[in-house]
Amino acid sequence: MAASDILIIDDYPQLVDFLKERLTAEGYDVRTAASGSEGLEIVRNGFEGVCLLDVRLPDISGLDLFEETKKLRPDLPVIFITAHATVDMAVEATRRGAFDFIAKGSDLLKRLNVSVKNAFDRLNMSEQLKTLKIQLSEKGSFARILTVSPKMVGILKTLESVVNSGVTVLVEGNSGTGKELVARSIHDSGNRREGPFVAVNCAGIPETLLESEMFGYEKGAFTGATSRKAGKFEAANGGTLFLDEVGELPRALQAKLLRVLQDHSFERVGGNETVTVDVRIISATNRDLMKEVKAENFREDLFYRLSVFPVRLPTLAERPEDIPVLAQHFLKRFANEEGKDLNGFDPAAMSTLTAHPFPGNVRELENLVRHSVILANDREVSVDNIRTTLGSHGVDVASGTPALPMNQTMTLDDRLAAAFPVPDGLPPMRELQASYLKHAIELSNGNVSRAARTLGIGRATMYRWMKGEID
Ligand SMILES: Nc1ncnc2c1ncn2[C@@H]1O[C@H](COP(=O)(O)OP(=O)(O)OP(=O)(O)O)[C@@H](O)[C@H]1O
Ligand SMILES: [Mg+2]
Repeated sequence: MAASDILIIDDYPQLVDFLKERLTAEGYDVRTAASGSEGLEIVRNGFEGVCLLDVRLPDISGLDLFEETKKLRPDLPVIFITAHATVDMAVEATRRGAFDFIAKGSDLLKRLNVSVKNAFDRLNMSEQLKTLKIQLSEKGSFARILTVSPKMVGILKTLESVVNSGVTVLVEGNSGTGKELVARSIHDSGNRREGPFVAVNCAGIPETLLESEMFGYEKGAFTGATSRKAGKFEAANGGTLFLDEVGELPRALQAKLLRVLQDHSFERVGGNETVTVDVRIISATNRDLMKEVKAENFREDLFYRLSVFPVRLPTLAERPEDIPVLAQHFLKRFANEEGKDLNGFDPAAMSTLTAHPFPGNVRELENLVRHSVILANDREVSVDNIRTTLGSHGVDVASGTPALPMNQTMTLDDRLAAAFPVPDGLPPMRELQASYLKHAIELSNGNVSRAARTLGIGRATMYRWMKGEID
């Protein structure tokens, strides 16, 4: 794909020359067409880039031409350029899937640069999704792990080589990077897939409880042990045992685990009978386990036994190219669950997402999209939905339990009082209304219809108010 091709279809030579010059200066390759038929021919011949389309053309209406280009190239981003009088038509075009519309006027260039950049971002994303589909088919067994990051794809490729072997895999990575998903995927794609996948969380359980949970106990082993109970090791026989947060395993249990790794056997708590199991071990940690070894918190011999095949998952910040892909994936899933007809994110929402640092990694992104989908009341998740969710993420970003949204702790009256503390500063109604509308339209990314809906007024009223008419 040519990542910089722009096609301008407009019959007004002065404007075309002006745009061409400016966009060329920005580094784009610009082609022009002075009529609909000429433009359509270029698209038919395989144009791949971003299209700027005049609403009025000599031979066809921009809207009809747009329908034609959609048949040829459904994912061609089209930005309508319109004189003010035809804003309604452009709004209609956006409804039908145009990427954006820009009114000819003083801030045309400023808006155009942003809009063109966003359009190319979207184009790159759909390219990435195509690559992703190819990679998915190559990736085969790890299909549930979505990624376009070369780093991640590399990791998954190396993991392919161990799915059918019994070697221990240690998955290291920060919280929410997908460690458990990787562990499950290894199990699901290997020759133990018919066997059980059993997970044990080694953190936060007192040592004695953890021991009986992992290894089971005999009748009478302690008060309340009224009958023999199998532990997770036995439950995982023939399959995989996933030891989550293995760095937290108490010293005494580290010794017992080491023995299972060496000779596949152990005794239940309170018993002498030796139990033999066939279990593959995959463990995960969000600590630097080698550091724990050096600090003598973790046995070195156990570390080497557990990490015959170590992998470290990159944080989301180390693979920002995955953000759009994962965001779309989660959006689809949650929209489905919520029964909402959502197409995607508006460009500003996506820019906000890609600019967010995501300390809670994929889990944080997942929660963020879930909340935003719940808030969305349009065909797209808006930048507003994202901002509200980000604002409500409070302290614990990764946990998914949002704090009370900041802007909901203040009533509208409080906020007005804070903005206009003295009578002298009160703006005239006409001015207040005009700036409020402008603000709402900006927050809706220039989409007047959406702004009108958010404010609970009709579009006609919106336009009248924008002109300063108060009724
Ligand atoms: N590449 C990915 N594609 C799709 N979903 C993903 C991906 N990575 C993570 N997820 C999802 O993100 C969430 C967090 O992943 P997971 O539980 O595997 O992370 P973790 O590293 O084990 O986190 P923690 O350290 O907090 O336990 C899960 O819902 C998982 O399904
Ligand atoms: Mg986990």
